[in-house]
Amino acid sequence: MTRERVLTGGQITPEEDQVQLSLRPKTLAEYIGQKELRGKLKVTLDAARQRQEAAEHILFYGPPGLGKTTLAHIIAREMDSKLFATAGPALQRTGDLMGILTNLKEGDILFIDEIHRLSPVIEEFMYPAMEDFKVDFVVDKGAFAKVINVPLKRFTLIGATTRAGMLSSPLRDRFGLYYHIDFYPPEDLAEIVLRSARLLETEIAPEAAQTIALRSRGTPRIANRLLRRVRDYSAVKDDGVIRNEIAIKALDAEGVDALGLDNLDRKLLQVIIEYYKGGPVGIEALGATLNEEVDTLVDMVEPFLLKIGFIQRTRRGRMASPEAMKHLGIGPPTDGQQSMF
Ligand code: ADE
Repeated sequence: MTRERVLTGGQITPEEDQVQLSLRPKTLAEYIGQKELRGKLKVTLDAARQRQEAAEHILFYGPPGLGKTTLAHIIAREMDSKLFATAGPALQRTGDLMGILTNLKEGDILFIDEIHRLSPVIEEFMYPAMEDFKVDFVVDKGAFAKVINVPLKRFTLIGATTRAGMLSSPLRDRFGLYYHIDFYPPEDLAEIVLRSARLLETEIAPEAAQTIALRSRGTPRIANRLLRRVRDYSAVKDDGVIRNEIAIKALDAEGVDALGLDNLDRKLLQVIIEYYKGGPVGIEALGATLNEEVDTLVDMVEPFLLKIGFIQRTRRGRMASPEAMKHLGIGPPTDGQQSMF
């Protein structure tokens, strides 16, 4: 994974995580955007509170950086319960999960990020835990093997995934609620940028917030990251106030264009257009040509390009649209013309 990919909402370093955490809304009332989802979630949580029960298991799905983890933390806070966070790839052995599950108290929340990456064994282990709040744990081996039935407290599982399609249906069906989190419109992102600037005690012009919003690929995590880059740029090159001109200069210097595309987005489009003559091309071939993980392309690059109609996913592979060619000012090479790759 390249460093610039961090921009599009990939892994974050611990200290940036701290800033990220402090910018995160802590209550539903502080949360900007996803109005419909917030409304439905509020009903669910109010009803669970009224009945003094744990909320049903909840699945959040959608591209990275849109607030799945933030919402899990908000739910824990709204329900006045503790949250335990883990991720699909971190759960290797049933023993690990057994330890976590048996330590959960009534109403606690278990958050599993990247839940589509649970191993089949762990997944199966989760079914009775989710459905009947018990686990069947096998002790000893061979002729001495025994199944111990361990009761659990009623907890809420919150799963998050970027790939709802990769979840098996038995697992998906055990969630009472599924929420799709979609890209944010620029108005909501501008509001998020203004709120974050306030928290960072940075003065910002409304037009600059709009500029950052328009270049954030519909993603709050990117908006907050770009805000910090622009804030640094203004502090070093200007007087620290974020005006529109400085925001534009800083984002141009970051390689983030007017639509929010960064170097990797442009490279992907360029490869499809010039090297594969506009497509169709398989994602594996694109990954190999770009020397990037397929998962990075599928989770972090493609969703926004699909959303703005710059690529299409067909059965024969990915294709670049005429709009993408126009945006980059390039077309497929004609016969005899040298491709740049
Ligand atoms: N920071 C990141 N996402 C946010 C959101 N949805 N609302 C408010 N602040 C945020």
